[in-house]
Amino acid sequence: MSREPEQICSEIIEVSKKAGEFIRQELTRIQSHHIQSKGTHDFVTYVDKSAETIIVEELKRILPEAGFITEENTIKSGQKEYTWIVDPLDGTTNFIHGIPCFSVSIGLMQNAEIIAGVVYEVNLDECFYAWKDGGAYLNGKPIKVSATPKLKDSLLASGFPYHDYSRLDKYLELFTWCLHNTHGVRRLGSAAVDMAYVACGRFDAFFEYGLNAWDVAGGAIIVQEAGGRVTDFEGKNNYLFGGELIATNAKICDEFLEQAKSAFE
Ligand code: IPD
Ligand code: CA
Ligand code: CA
Repeated sequence: MSREPEQICSEIIEVSKKAGEFIRQELTRIQSHHIQSKGTHDFVTYVDKSAETIIVEELKRILPEAGFITEENTIKSGQKEYTWIVDPLDGTTNFIHGIPCFSVSIGLMQNAEIIAGVVYEVNLDECFYAWKDGGAYLNGKPIKVSATPKLKDSLLASGFPYHDYSRLDKYLELFTWCLHNTHGVRRLGSAAVDMAYVACGRFDAFFEYGLNAWDVAGGAIIVQEAGGRVTDFEGKNNYLFGGELIATNAKICDEFLEQAKSAFE
């Protein structure tokens, strides 16, 4: 790759906004017969697929040698030295119900490390982005995580498991603890936006299990570059492909991990 991550990041922003523009325009056209079920409680529309096609075509131009991991599988290509990890529409359920919180999420991975990420929240036209060692930004302004030092003063976000119910009891145990011991838990419906909101200090932490790499690749580096910490439920680094993630402002990370470990042990 001959270009700097900063330059690549600004090109990803353009791609995200182009896909976001398409998604916004289709919001008024989507009808119930466009909604297909990929599995229990897992929906997809032509908008998800077409947005992905737009993104893939543009990203191929930016970095022809890169591989792809995409939610809608519109391109068959494995992992390479550089790999794009793409969720063309994160928050499909919100989208089909006309609830204004959904995003485009794109991460660029070099070997096993994310080096640039963009989360574009379509409704508020908020573009969150970061590149490795370059800081995190929202619409051109630097962002950082909250300074909240204790969970008791924290506002959290989560997503509810919708297919892997094997750990539901443990999840609910942690959830119950959070309801009793924090300012509350929000469920926005877009994991990428949840992480972006941790990065800019609106949330102090986000946790969820049953996630895929495309849900978290864009947001994870934004949280980290904003000064936050991202781990799996054991405090380790297997959050990209491990299906579980905790993103915090770093200050409350250990306290939250203690609760997660005791619930999920
Ligand atoms: C979903 C959203 C949701 C989260 C789910 C994801 P999708 O992604 O991020 O907030 O709770 O785990 O699968 O299906 O809308 O791209
Ligand atoms: Ca998603
Ligand atoms: Ca999606």
